[in-house]
Amino acid sequence: MDVVKKANAKGRWIEPFLGTGVVAFNSGYERALLNDSNPHLINFYKGIQLGTITPAIVKRYLEQEGEKLLHAEENGYVHFRAVRNRFNETFSPLDFLFLSRTGFNGMMRFGKKGNWNIPFCKKPNRFAQAYITKIVNQVAGVQSAIGKEWTFTNGNFAETIMQTRADDIIYCDPPYFGRYVDYYNGWTEEEEETLFTLLSQTKAKFILSTWHHNDWRVNDMVAKYWSRFNVVTRDHFYHSGGKIENRRTIVEALVCNFALESIELHNHGQIAHRKTEQIDMQLVV
Ligand SMILES: C[S@@+](CC[C@H](N)C(=O)[O-])C[C@H]1O[C@@H](n2cnc3c(N)ncnc32)[C@H](O)[C@@H]1O
Repeated sequence: MDVVKKANAKGRWIEPFLGTGVVAFNSGYERALLNDSNPHLINFYKGIQLGTITPAIVKRYLEQEGEKLLHAEENGYVHFRAVRNRFNETFSPLDFLFLSRTGFNGMMRFGKKGNWNIPFCKKPNRFAQAYITKIVNQVAGVQSAIGKEWTFTNGNFAETIMQTRADDIIYCDPPYFGRYVDYYNGWTEEEEETLFTLLSQTKAKFILSTWHHNDWRVNDMVAKYWSRFNVVTRDHFYHSGGKIENRRTIVEALVCNFALESIELHNHGQIAHRKTEQIDMQLVV
């Protein structure tokens, strides 16, 4: 990971909806407050911060479990089931890693009791050496990105936003309204309204990711709540998703409460195949 450190930033990087953490891990902030309602994600990253999960431990674990998966009956299914059942009882962060890498189509979904709810990818050779090395390197990257003054919490987004101060930057990437079904990822209009109220009141800078429209629908939440702030839109092509027909362009929006002087606000339909783009928002305060 090639992260530009923001050692001079006075405030903290705040993420009420951490998810994979990929944005925080690239933020370069010395201080951060990172929250998710999903306890499994937070336990995993806390484990890395505390040193109970290290690249060496992950390597050993994946080599052992990968070997068992490769030789298990029913094309690996018997061992996948054993790990899934063990996770559903102990919620071990290493078993969480195993399941997240062996789920069908790379998906992650949980039931009401926090139990794993995605079938096996049907690849008994999932943990080939090159794949283990890739995961171990990712864990090492995360280990070096996590600062001593980063706090991970497992709760509701509202508690996190209420703890912010004027010099913090809040990055919000909530579940998209009307699109997710997972136990930790439900999202109602009431929650969207609470988020809007809290972000309208905050003295910190905020950036919110949401969707703007696709070929069939517009996100009514933008006109109802977010259009009173600054809105940037970008075409985005989704390469993942269970069904091929779901892999198409969506117009994404970034909403923020500060001026965007040198940024092209909208690109929808202008460029057929736009390359990945860095949007420089001049955030350091
Ligand atoms: C769209 S994902 C975030 C993706 C993240 N930016 C990334 O790059 O991986 C939304 C996250 O919000 C979490 N979440 C859903 N409802 C929440 C709530 N009420 N409070 C806190 N987190 C919540 C989900 O568990 C999920 O990890």
